[in-house]
Parts: sequence; C-alpha cells; structure tokens
Amino acid sequence: MSEHLPLVSVGVLGAGTVGSQVIRLIGEHATDLSARSGARIEVTSVLVRSLDAQRDVEIDPALLTTDPDTAINGKDLVIELIGGIEPARTFVMQALTQGITVVTGNKALLAAHGPELYEAAAANGADLYYEAAVAGAVPVVYGLRESLVGDKMMRVQGIVNGTTNFILDSMASKGMSYADALAQAQALGFAEADPTADVEGLDAAAKCAILASLAFHTRVSINDVSVEGITSLSAEDMAEAAESGHTIKLLAIAERRIDGEGTEGVSVRVHPALVPNTHPLASVDGAFNAIVIEGESAGRLMFYGQGAGGAPTASAVLSDVVAAAHHRAYGGHAPRESVYADLPICDHGSVRTRYRVRLHVADNVGVLAEVAGIFAAQGVSLDSVNQRPSSGEGEAVLTVTTHDASEADMTAVIEALIQASVVREIASTIRMEGE
Ligand code: HSE
Repeated sequence: MSEHLPLVSVGVLGAGTVGSQVIRLIGEHATDLSARSGARIEVTSVLVRSLDAQRDVEIDPALLTTDPDTAINGKDLVIELIGGIEPARTFVMQALTQGITVVTGNKALLAAHGPELYEAAAANGADLYYEAAVAGAVPVVYGLRESLVGDKMMRVQGIVNGTTNFILDSMASKGMSYADALAQAQALGFAEADPTADVEGLDAAAKCAILASLAFHTRVSINDVSVEGITSLSAEDMAEAAESGHTIKLLAIAERRIDGEGTEGVSVRVHPALVPNTHPLASVDGAFNAIVIEGESAGRLMFYGQGAGGAPTASAVLSDVVAAAHHRAYGGHAPRESVYADLPICDHGSVRTRYRVRLHVADNVGVLAEVAGIFAAQGVSLDSVNQRPSSGEGEAVLTVTTHDASEADMTAVIEALIQASVVREIASTIRMEGE
C-alpha cells in the first residue's frame, strides 16, 4: 500500500551513534512511519567521512557517499547529524537554499547561527526541525514551540547535560572527587576524551539559548548566556550540600525578569546550583535530563528522560522526520522562527539569587565580624553563618549563606574577601536555586 504514497527522499549526513540508529529505525519501521506521515520515507544517500569505517548498524554500501552534493542536492529532506559548526553549517545552508527541509540535532550550530538558518529556510520555502538538539529523547522543543505556544512562559530551568549530571551524581552518591568522577564517566563512555564542552557548561549553554529563544520569542545566542561549568566543584562541596539537605546540579536557567522600572528582559545562565532535595530536579540522577517549565497559565510542567545516546536521540529525530515528511508530501510548514517579542537580555550583574560561600579564615578575635562586615558593605544580607574547626593551624571554616543578592554585589564581596588578610582561602561560591 505504501508504494502508492508520495516518496520523500532523505539524505542523512553522518552515520555515527545517532545517524546509524536513525537509518536503522527508518528501515525497521518503514511501514509504520509511512502510515503516520502519509509518505514513503526512504533514505537514498548517507554522507560519511570514510566508506570503510566500522559502523554500529549495517548500512547498504550503495547508499554511502563521501560527496556532500550527492547526499544533499535534489533530496526532499536532509537529516544533519555530523555536529559542530563546520562543515555542518555549509551543508545545512546548501540544503535550505535549495528549499530542502532540514532536520538537525546540532545544538552548537543552532545556538550560534540559528537566525541565518531560519532566514534561509523561510526564504526558500523549507522548514527547520531540531527536536534532537535539546535533551535527546525529551520532547521539550516541541513542547515549547507548539504545545505551550499559547501560554506566557515565565521560566525554563533544567538539567540539559547528561555527562555533567552523571559526574555530579557520582560525586554526591559515592563521595568521589571531580577528577575521579570524570575519569569514571570517560571509562564508561558518558564523557568524551575531550570533555570541555560538557564540563565547562558550553553544551548546556547552547541548549539554554535554544530553549530561551523558544520560550521568550526572542533571539538568544550562546554568546548571551553566562556560563560556569562544574570543574571547580569538590567532594567537600557535595558533602556540605548533603548536610543541609541540598544537591548540586548544573542548571540551565532561562527566565523572564522584570527590573525596577518594570522593563521585561530575559536572563540566561548556566551554572552549578544548590537545589533543595525536595525540588523535582534534585532527584534526577545518572545521565538523565529534566526540564521544568513554568507557564503563566499552565503552571509548572516537568519533562524528564534520556538526553543522549543513539536510540533516544534518534527517537527525537524521527518525530521531526515524520512531521517533515507529512508537510513535504501534503503541504504545510513547521513553525517559523518566532522572535517578535525581542526582549532585551538582562545584564548578568543584575541577576539576583542566594549564595553559599565557604571560607577558610584565621581563627582570631573579630574575624567573624570583619567577614560579616564585607558582606554588609555591599548590601548583601546574611541568612546564616556556620563556623567549624579546620584542619589548618589556627584556622576556621566559615560557611555563609546569603539572602537574595545581585551577581554584581556578590562579585564585589568576593573581590573584597580575596583582599582581606583574615581570609586564607575562598573554597567555594555556589548559587542556590529552587528554594
Ligand atoms: N554531551 C551531551 C550530554 C549530549 O552529555 O548531555 C549531547 O548534547
């Protein structure tokens, strides 16, 4: 029966972990995918770097090509799964300028060049789909772009990087150091040999920019996101968090903020944060992802699932493929870029949150008062102070928790603490979210 349906010829760019699963699933579920899309979806070319490489899935050698033109030109649909900026950007633009719809999982490309891709798609009657770019199998892009488009989004806050969540979970649950937890994640295949993009928060920042653009109908690029990774976190930070009923998570936060004059803006940031154990994000363990979305009318929704891996990410790609194939065969379009709100990006210094600072100080008369005075001088109000003995000679450990303070004021506090002779070390400064 499916022979009578219109053919959608697909070029797949990349046959790695995700690409090979996409090709396998399109083949295995051809009948169902045809019935759901009303089109015969057929992979007709697969762009690879080497024709002889070992692959996770057997692919008909006749489909393989090392020539981008063969894999792109004249197709109905191109699935880009090679990642990175170049040559992915050139290939995606090549497809879009020919009016070929593109499905991509490339968060780095979208977060850096989304507007130009959207413009090329709109100018040429093509569509751009990217469910797989954020949180793998978790349908958060569709959720924001379509399901929740009638609501006013207030905040999107989530764990969108599985590698760092796995590392933080190992540190918290097994008392491991950051270095040991990273080595374990690499040995188990969760972390790349070069883990920079994950552990420095850049992968999460790209996803944060994409989510913020969708939630707030505003162009947000990765360069707008304030980013801090997890590399300076210690086993002691984890232990202290557990003692106070918290867990440390790397959060991507995009929120609507209103300043003193009533002007709305968007705050976008990625950083580790102390989250109370009662918060839904605190219990997200291993390499899982979760995103909490707060809509003005919908209230709080949570999306949870596998954020990486071949088959889970392929599931997201296939949802786009079915929608794209249907539109290709019968007309209609995916939502275009929606940036009409054009909200300003908030200055990071104005963002307010609570902080916990752990200091090693000289255990002398008046030190506590001096430290408290440094916070007071910047108008930062203290919520609690805990002092305990240190293993260092004549030293005490002070853990100071603040009330809401602006990032600018806290930066000034930290600079003054560094200058203070009574402070021997600032062991950690961690934001507190979700209280
Ligand atoms: N490296 C990412 C993660 C997966 O660890 O979540 C792809 O974005």
